[in-house]
Amino acid sequence: MLDNLHQLRCCGCGAQIEGSTARPDFRCLACGDLFEVEYPGWNKPQGTDRPNAGALKWLWRERRTSTEAIDRSGVWRFRELLPILDNFENAVTLFEGNTPLYHLPRAAKSLGMDQLFAKHQGMNPTGSFKDTGMTAALSVARERGFKWVACASTGNTSAAMAAYAARAGLNSLVLIPQGKIAWGKLAQAMDYGSVTCQLKTDFDGCVKVLNSIVRQEPIYLLNSVNPYRLEGQKTPAFEIAEAMDWNLPDHLIVPGGNLANSSALGKGMREMKQLGLIARVPKISVIQAEGANPLARSFAKDDGKTLEAVEAKTRATAIRIGNPASWRKSAQVIHETGGWCIDVTEAEIAIAKAEIGAEGLGCEPASAVTLAGLKKLRASGKVGATESVVLLLTGHTLKDADYTIDYHRGTLLEESESRGLEAEINGMRRNAHEVAATPEAVLAVLKDVEL
Ligand code: F0G
Repeated sequence: MLDNLHQLRCCGCGAQIEGSTARPDFRCLACGDLFEVEYPGWNKPQGTDRPNAGALKWLWRERRTSTEAIDRSGVWRFRELLPILDNFENAVTLFEGNTPLYHLPRAAKSLGMDQLFAKHQGMNPTGSFKDTGMTAALSVARERGFKWVACASTGNTSAAMAAYAARAGLNSLVLIPQGKIAWGKLAQAMDYGSVTCQLKTDFDGCVKVLNSIVRQEPIYLLNSVNPYRLEGQKTPAFEIAEAMDWNLPDHLIVPGGNLANSSALGKGMREMKQLGLIARVPKISVIQAEGANPLARSFAKDDGKTLEAVEAKTRATAIRIGNPASWRKSAQVIHETGGWCIDVTEAEIAIAKAEIGAEGLGCEPASAVTLAGLKKLRASGKVGATESVVLLLTGHTLKDADYTIDYHRGTLLEESESRGLEAEINGMRRNAHEVAATPEAVLAVLKDVEL
């Protein structure tokens, strides 16, 4: 078993603290910024504390055939790169991770590219990428003896937290913005036994209320300001590298909401390079919805130096966030890797989502911003025809079935939103028909579709 080898470092002032001494809201006492987990041993020359790249690649592959619960997790399979627990027997796992990397032949063809892939994090146990982060942070909560955990959420975090808390035998509290999340996600949290509170505010308002609660009660905060979440969420970077034989794609494209995921994947890439597992990191670009685009605005205004919160509004409810906590970390990743941050419209998201569906994969609306963003980056010449690109799909298509049905019935978008994109929308052929119960009526539909 490995020792717990980590400490926390403030991303603002560089203060270093022991993990167990962080404040309940995970803000730095000195400057108020966020922490990230660091492993001091990795800066030393090759030795006992610094993992050996070749040995690790072999070990991680071996574990794929293991029947041990901890090895079957696509997060804990890489545990040498997240030594955050005193004892790995405290890991709470639902066998998350090990998600598929799919080729997207149709989208690639229409973009004039060969090498376009989707890493589908919606294929996790609760249907979103949040499971990889939750297994890490919830295991820390259990090891440190907490009885209650809590999060504010646009839906997926709460579903993941509820499931992992239930597995660990902990109680969980969910704060969500009333009426502003996809119902399936709320149903998951209820089903897994969470105390769910809908608040008459937005996500950013829920965060404020929760910050106050965790300062008053011994409740462990599982929002993505919790740096241990990011340790789990960095592991898809390892999986992508492994699946591509340790040759990273040219470009990784990630949706942006609270901006933790892009930060985590950037950290994963940075650490693999530091340890000699890979030779170079991909560009990482972040795509936001036009109505929830504080970082895209910031990049347009002053290259990501300052951020003004916005009042968020988008049908991609998972990323309906106006004041993202991890924006500085994310901006740093974009700068370091040479990526971009741009936004896409509601119609562009809806079309891209239908295109991902038509590949036989599907995803939730927030994930589809990646393909919509790639189209824009391609059109502006920022992504070349020969570049290899991986889109990070964050949630399963069943997370928001209403959105899909509304789109195919033609009731999702306002006319003003679809203007100029009618050909693309009609080209995707709406798939919903209500017809009389006769063979003739059904055959007539097929004829129409053929035409
Ligand atoms: N995609 C999906 C499906 C999400 O649920 C989220 C965030 C994101 C993308 C954005 O990731 O916040 O790390 O930039 N959902 C959070 C939640 C906020 O509460 O479930 P991010």
